Amino acid sequence: MRPEDIPAILVLEADTLSAWSREHLEDELQQPAGFQFVVRNAALDMIQAVLYGRIMADEAEILKLSVAESVRKKGVGSQILDFVLNYCRTKGVKNCFLELRASNTAARNLYEKRGFFRVGSRKNYYDEPVEDAILMQREL
Ligand SMILES: CC(C)(COP(=O)(O)OP(=O)(O)OC[C@H]1O[C@@H](n2cnc3c(N)ncnc32)[C@H](O)[C@@H]1OP(=O)(O)O)[C@@H](O)C(=O)NCCC(=O)NCCS
Repeated sequence: MRPEDIPAILVLEADTLSAWSREHLEDELQQPAGFQFVVRNAALDMIQAVLYGRIMADEAEILKLSVAESVRKKGVGSQILDFVLNYCRTKGVKNCFLELRASNTAARNLYEKRGFFRVGSRKNYYDEPVEDAILMQREL
């Protein structure tokens, strides 16, 4: 992800819950422990997916995964997740964590297909709308 990608990412995320602001994205690019990847369709000059996270010692956390609505259910989310899990392995990560809205069946299915399993929950963790979070983990 490059700073000049931010306007396109704001559009990509506009229809998702818990979308990040421009300031939040700019801050994320400065995080020393952060990683930020996009799937870019160069021919269409389009960003199709984004994934941000952090690596702390041998643990990684996925903070955000979004796929553009027009290309969902075509394997793009799986593709960028596979890429990031491999990237984390090369950095010595042994465990990967994430949290998601309890109602987010699409994301939960995607993560379960990639070997993540539920390890806990957080009551009323999200707002707008208020909702519990499910915590998931997988070993790498
Ligand atoms: C969740 C999300 C990232 C999935 O991306 P995607 O590119 O559509 O996912 P894929 O095409 O790789 O699908 C992989 C698996 O996920 C599951 N899945 C994806 N979309 C689904 C849906 N709408 N309903 C149920 N399961 C779904 C399926 O199990 C699918 O496997 P299959 O194709 O064999 O059925 C995408 O819907 C999205 O960006 N949603 C909004 C943001 C979000 O919720 N992010 C995750 C929170 S961290």
